[in-house]
Amino acid sequence: MMATGTKSAHILEALRDEQPDQLLALIDDYRRDAREDKIDLGVGVYRDEAGETPVLDAVKAAERRILETQSSKSYLGSEGDPTFTAAVTRLALGAGLASDARVTGVQTPGGTGALRLAAEVAARGDCGRVWLGEPSWPNHAPIFSAAGLPVVAFRSVDPGSGRFDLAVALEALSEARLGDCALLQASCHNPTGADPDVDQWREIGRLLAQRGVLPILDLAYQGLGDGIEQDARGLRAVLEETGQALIAYSCNKNFGLYRERVGALIGVAAGPSAAARLKANMLVLTRALWSMPPDHGAAVVRTILSDPALESCWLRELSMMRERLRSIRRTVAAGHPLLEPIGRQRGLFSMLPITPVQVVELRTRHGIHAAPSGRANLAGLSRTNVERFLRSLEAVVEQRQW
Ligand code: LMR
Repeated sequence: MMATGTKSAHILEALRDEQPDQLLALIDDYRRDAREDKIDLGVGVYRDEAGETPVLDAVKAAERRILETQSSKSYLGSEGDPTFTAAVTRLALGAGLASDARVTGVQTPGGTGALRLAAEVAARGDCGRVWLGEPSWPNHAPIFSAAGLPVVAFRSVDPGSGRFDLAVALEALSEARLGDCALLQASCHNPTGADPDVDQWREIGRLLAQRGVLPILDLAYQGLGDGIEQDARGLRAVLEETGQALIAYSCNKNFGLYRERVGALIGVAAGPSAAARLKANMLVLTRALWSMPPDHGAAVVRTILSDPALESCWLRELSMMRERLRSIRRTVAAGHPLLEPIGRQRGLFSMLPITPVQVVELRTRHGIHAAPSGRANLAGLSRTNVERFLRSLEAVVEQRQW
């Protein structure tokens, strides 16, 4: 007799096998490595000189204030906290454009939630295809595919020079058609650290405007590259050309709020009524996706950005994170001519000039954990381990290549 629970249920049996997410698997791989001098260059979180990802002082102060003053945990609604969304919209677009009636937005669970919502909005707007520069964050294509959109990848970074390849990107995007979207990372490119300069952004924006393509800009590391304003310049140049865009904003990295999942989807539409329609669509989609976003992290960001003393504390902490990343980049770049591109790239990530086999060797022989693609989160390096990292890298690469 068949035991209860083993009866045939077609749906669960029809599921195909899946592999664990490769980036998230790095967290466990690193945890399991018992070597004391192991180095974590895996998942994309900022680390300080001691290898910690601390809660920022500004965040702690805001949390204390929330604890003392919050009088209710009742629902806020599908759009989350509009004061939070308005505050991050000002960071992304600048105060002028942020207050324009063409601009709208809702709070989302992290930048990933914002991207998924952007994909659903695009699908509702009969998006044809999504153009995506490669390499990219491995979750970009799955998020848009999950919304039923065909993703077309094109090469955007030249692996030799480690620079954004404008000519190749423009050639690819000139095939885009009216009703397509282009998913672009606004700064601190994941995984290469190679961003277009402002003139290149403007050229991209001009082409997208000519072709009738909607830019979807992923702004996940504002302030970790060159500064809050500097890291938004490319995005604003695109907007000046296209007039319309969706912007997926993440506070997870620049406020160090990773597990709180803090983000927003910002929309810039053709006019006030198009913006109102966009917002209504965002709200209907949000209700079906996650109903309402989690509040705590957004309340922290809103508290920081609405208090000048807390805001300057946060900006100081952000600039310390940025300066540490830049200093590590300089040290690594000086370590070998092949690593020179790392010195002019930005943000947490760069690609190491090694093969997937050498990535495995780096991990198994030297306890240095990078992503399987060769992506390294440079925040895992410090004055104490950078020399060992450089020597180990040299050891896994054949002499003739160095
Ligand atoms: C990363 O790229 O490592 C991070 O953004 C973490 C993630 O969700 O993949």
